[in-house]
Amino acid sequence: MKLIHVVGARPNFMKAAPVWSAIAKITDFNQILVHTGQHYDKLMSDIFFKELQMSVPDYNLNIGSDTHVRQTAAIMIKFEELVNGLKPDLVIVYGDVNSTVATAMVCSKLLIPFAHIEAGLRSFDRRMPEEINRLITDQLADLLFTPSKDGNYNLIKEGIPKNKIHFVGNVMIDTLVRLLSKADKPNRFKEIEQYILVTLHRPSNVDDPKSIQSIMNNLQKISESNPVIFPVHPRTKKMISENSLDISNNINFHLIDPLGYLDFLGLMKNATTVITDSGGIQEETTYLGIPCITVRENTERPITVTLGTNQLIGKEYNKIPDLVNDSINRKKRSYNVPPLWDGKAAERIAKTLVAYSKKLL
Ligand code: UD1
Repeated sequence: MKLIHVVGARPNFMKAAPVWSAIAKITDFNQILVHTGQHYDKLMSDIFFKELQMSVPDYNLNIGSDTHVRQTAAIMIKFEELVNGLKPDLVIVYGDVNSTVATAMVCSKLLIPFAHIEAGLRSFDRRMPEEINRLITDQLADLLFTPSKDGNYNLIKEGIPKNKIHFVGNVMIDTLVRLLSKADKPNRFKEIEQYILVTLHRPSNVDDPKSIQSIMNNLQKISESNPVIFPVHPRTKKMISENSLDISNNINFHLIDPLGYLDFLGLMKNATTVITDSGGIQEETTYLGIPCITVRENTERPITVTLGTNQLIGKEYNKIPDLVNDSINRKKRSYNVPPLWDGKAAERIAKTLVAYSKKLL
C-alpha cells in the first residue's frame, strides 16, 4: 500500500512521527512524507524533524504564509498535482491546520481515501479557523481516529457512520511519552526553579492590540514575583513589536525565540504553571499534571478540563495573577490522565490501517 502523510505546521510534526514509525514497524507500506511548507522557519519546522528523528520530507510544497484562503488554495493546487503523479492508496492528515483541510479536500475531489488523525474535536466556535478545518475534514474523511470519546460522540451527532470512527487515544502523548526522559530545561534556565511558562499565538488574543497589551501587563505583574518564560511565536512577535510591548529588559521576564520540542517539553515538565492558548499544550500539561491556564473562551479538548489540569479563563486576563498564585500555593485539584493517553495510540492506528489494507474494515 502506498501511503502519504501530510504535515504542514508545528503541531503536526509530533503527531506524525509516532504514526510513521508504528506503521514501519508492522508493515512494508511505502510511506511518503509531504510537508506543505505552511511553517517554514527553522525554529517552527526543521528542528522538529531532527529531534523527533523523522526523515526529511520527500516533498515540500513550500507554500509559506498568506491569508487563510490563499494559503489553503495554494496548498490544494500544489497537492493535487503531486498526488496525481504519486497515486497513493491512502493519505493521512493530522490535526486542524490549514494544511489538513486543504489536502483533505483534494483527496475527496480526487476520490483518494484519507484518514484523519485527531478527529472529532469540537470547540463549537466557528469563529475559530481550526473549527472550520475540523468540521470539513471530518465530514470528508474515510477513517477517523479520535483521541478521546467526546470525539466519537461529536462525530456520530454529525452523522458520520460509526464504522469509520476509531477511538485510539492521543498520538501527541505518544511522542511525549517517548521523549520525556530526554527533555530538560535549556542551559540558560537551569538555575531557575519556580517559573511560569507562557505560549500565545491565537489571533483572538494576539491580533487585537488591546488584548495583547492587557495580557502583557498581567504577565509583567506576575514577573514581579516569579520568572516568566515566554517563547514567542512569529505571529505574536510581530504584534508585540508593532505595539511596542517588548519588556524583555525586565530581568524576570524572558521573551525568547520559539523553542524546539525537547527544550520546550523540558521547561513544561518543570513549570509551576503554564499559561497558553495552544491546543496541544492543554493536553500535554494534563498528561504531566502541570496546572494549565488556557486563555480561551472554549476548548475543543474538554477532557483536559473535566479530567485534567486545565482551566479556561476566556478573555478575563486580569484573573491570571491570582490563578498563578493559587497554583504556586499548591491549591491543586486532583486530576487524571484520560483513557488511552498511554503512548500506544499510534500502534492502534497502525493495526487499524493494516486491517483497512486487507479490506477488513
Ligand atoms: C497555525 C495553525 C494553528 C496552530 C499553529 C501552531 C491554522 C489555521 N492555524 O497557526 O492551528 O496552532 O499553526 O503554531 O493552520 N510565520 C512565520 N514563520 C513560520 C510560520 C508562520 O514567520 O514558520 C508567521 C507568518 O507571519 C504568518 C504567521 O506567522 O503570517 C501565522 O502563521 P500561520 O501558519 O498562518 O498560522 P499560525 O498562527 O502559525
